[in-house]
Amino acid sequence: MDQAWPTLAAAAYSDPAIFAAERREIFLKTWQLVGHACDLPNPGDYLVFDLLDQSAILIRGEDGAIRAFHNACRHRAFRLLEGEGCSPARVRCKYHGFSYALDGHLAGVPGERDFVGLDKAAMGLRAVELESWQGFLFIRFQPDAGPSVAQQLDPLSAHLARYRFPELRPFGREARDSVACNWKVAQENNIEGYHIPVGHPGLQRLFGERYGFAVLEHGVSRAGGPLPDSLEGLSWSEQHYLSLLPAECERAWGYVSLFPNVAFDLYPDQVDFFQIIPLAPDRTLLRSRGYALPDDRREMRAARYCNMRINRLVSREDRGLVEGVQRGLASLGYGEGLLHRREARVRQLQEGVRARLGSLV
Ligand code: FES
Ligand SMILES: [Fe+2]
Repeated sequence: MDQAWPTLAAAAYSDPAIFAAERREIFLKTWQLVGHACDLPNPGDYLVFDLLDQSAILIRGEDGAIRAFHNACRHRAFRLLEGEGCSPARVRCKYHGFSYALDGHLAGVPGERDFVGLDKAAMGLRAVELESWQGFLFIRFQPDAGPSVAQQLDPLSAHLARYRFPELRPFGREARDSVACNWKVAQENNIEGYHIPVGHPGLQRLFGERYGFAVLEHGVSRAGGPLPDSLEGLSWSEQHYLSLLPAECERAWGYVSLFPNVAFDLYPDQVDFFQIIPLAPDRTLLRSRGYALPDDRREMRAARYCNMRINRLVSREDRGLVEGVQRGLASLGYGEGLLHRREARVRQLQEGVRARLGSLV
């Protein structure tokens, strides 16, 4: 209980061998959030999800079911789709024209008669493991014995029910931003509230004094705090946000995170997911999408605008923090650090990395 919590060594944030092991032992074997069923309302609607050298397609079939496939043609591997969109009826490869039905089976082959030994029934797109949890769609590139998303989030199911995840609708466009740091620097920053009083004066005003957190099982943790009753000392956006929030809204901001790289941001006015995608040992993509319950009231739209302004500033502040950490990690004057008790969620992440990478870190 009273033991010190040393951090991971600095090399864990830059060593290509560790990065490769994280790809293999962590990212390919954990659930990755791709989007929400409402992002794919019609048959043929698809989303491409890229993670390092892997890519998956999520696509809604004619039968309404959403399926996940590896994004590689079975003929000679051409990458089938990019980004997001609608591919009605078929997915056609742009190299030699193999076409796949929306359920993944190989439906058309140019010059089929001259293909010796082609068993079309066995040449459908290869499936990727998919879990739909409360409308959110998670994939796992490689099977693993770890728990399902539903099992991981089960202790929070009563708390999360009030956000009515299955009824959410897309809100705004996907945001993608790349930062010059290792993925763990970004994730540690995202799940740690010890830096709020110094790093985020706005968040400190909003709930910093009342910020709480809990570390749960299976790499899940939560944090957040109630919003203030008084508008005194708040910025323009913060004051307007609080006064515009409709009365029935729960006045709190919350965060739930899943190992290794996914978080839900829970606001009274919207729900976002925030995902940290490794690109290189020192380069990370921050990906987020917002969702909201249908509510077109003017004050709700204005509250969402204020929320965006508040969090845009937080993101700018965080960029400076994580890039500053990455540069400091290269210093000869730093080897490893020590965690505060309020950094328990960072500790949980680092223990998860240690458990999967063994003696490498
Ligand atoms: S690689 Fe797709 S049809 Fe040839
Ligand atoms: Fe932060």
